[in-house]
Amino acid sequence: MRAKNITWGALARIGAIVALDVALSAVGTVSAQDAAKIEAGENVYNTNCQICHGEQLVNTGQTFDLRRLKENERARFDNSVRNGKNQMPPWKGKLTDEEIDQLWHYIRANAYQK
Ligand code: HEC
Repeated sequence: MRAKNITWGALARIGAIVALDVALSAVGTVSAQDAAKIEAGENVYNTNCQICHGEQLVNTGQTFDLRRLKENERARFDNSVRNGKNQMPPWKGKLTDEEIDQLWHYIRANAYQK
């Protein structure tokens, strides 16, 4: 009898772990809309930014490492991209607001600090 109780207890525990795992993976899933933005952003990046900021955001240290941008630095990002900074050319008039938004999603998806 006792052995049977332990078995049911163990099963319940496994069930709880599986349920938790499912819940956690649901939190980690990006919405389809975000996934589309991230993909579009990667294309915009490869065409315009990669030459200076490196393949897949991995740069050689000569320019700013975009993966360092934090969640709360959107305003800084928008400003630097639109108006440029030192050696970095301004993108105002070259990229649309939508493309800049896509870039931001791509960079954030690969950031050090999510
Ligand atoms: C011609 C080379 C070049 C290209 C192309 C380029 N960048 Fe930059 N970028 C730089 C350099 C150099 C810096 C460092 C500027 C500094 O701090 O002096 C920089 C810095 C930045 C920064 C950080 C600015 C800050 O607030 O400190 C952001 C954000 C950025 N680039 C985004 C982009 C994006 C997005 C693109 C593509 C649309 C792009 N860059 C294309 C050279 C470039």
